Amino acid sequence: MKPDIIALCNQKGGVGKTTCAVNIAAGLARLGKKVLLVDFDPQAHLTYSLGFVAHDLKQTVYSVIKKSVPLDEALLEHSGMRLLPANLELAEMENEKADFHDGEFTLKNKLAGVRDMEYVLIDCPPSAGFLTSNALACSKDIYIPLQMEFLALKGMGRLMSRIEEVQKSLNKNLHISGIIPTRFDARRKLNNAIMDSIRERFGNKVFSTVIRENIAVAEAPSFGQTIFEYAPKSHGAEDFLSLCEEIINRK
Ligand SMILES: Nc1ncnc2c1ncn2[C@@H]1O[C@H](COP(=O)(O)OP(=O)(O)OP(=O)(O)O)[C@@H](O)[C@H]1O
Ligand SMILES: [Mg+2]
Repeated sequence: MKPDIIALCNQKGGVGKTTCAVNIAAGLARLGKKVLLVDFDPQAHLTYSLGFVAHDLKQTVYSVIKKSVPLDEALLEHSGMRLLPANLELAEMENEKADFHDGEFTLKNKLAGVRDMEYVLIDCPPSAGFLTSNALACSKDIYIPLQMEFLALKGMGRLMSRIEEVQKSLNKNLHISGIIPTRFDARRKLNNAIMDSIRERFGNKVFSTVIRENIAVAEAPSFGQTIFEYAPKSHGAEDFLSLCEEIINRK
């Protein structure tokens, strides 16, 4: 069984990529799916969010892609999910582009051997460099977390043209499958107005589920927990579970 590979991508920083990666993976795992998370951001927020001290790790995604360490030797486990962790070493990849003979297909070739997983979720860095190109070259779907703010919307045009470039040059099978409205606060008028224009512009690419602003979602990573562990009755848990049901039904 070949997994569905999904990149959580938006070159804008702090929009909820890592939060969505962790909690979508956790929700899918709760719904009985086998999930591998790949931390592909040198900030290693995904790795820290699941309670691992990234800077102490000997084997990471970088060891797998640069030093040919077998994937299995770098994998960690958290509540039934597998994690290919990262640390700051991954930042080297942007400078060492010439050393990677497989270029933009480096990650793809390393993940090609993953068989017993149904979903692979890749957490991208907030940039459009070599790391992100690698993540997009191996993905079937892109999920774009988007906050309902004026400036977030402005970045969408640039992101869309970047994705079109990748579709032409690296991966014609890449689909923008889901825009995930995040940190939504219905009390803010602007949030509602932007939500309407996003739905008008992107139609059914926008998930019906909206992830609400929820304090427990922001707190959970500091305890190394997913929202389902930290606050299973919260709005956050409710929203991420409903998003995961939508993801499974869309397949
Ligand atoms: N639904 C939510 N409710 C409350 N806080 C949230 C929610 N989603 C994300 N946050 C908070 O917003 C901040 C940014 O989220 P996150 O780190 O997931 O973004 P990111 O896109 O991965 O950032 P970066 O571009 O730096 O990788 C974090 O502090 C996170 O806890
Ligand atoms: Mg992040």
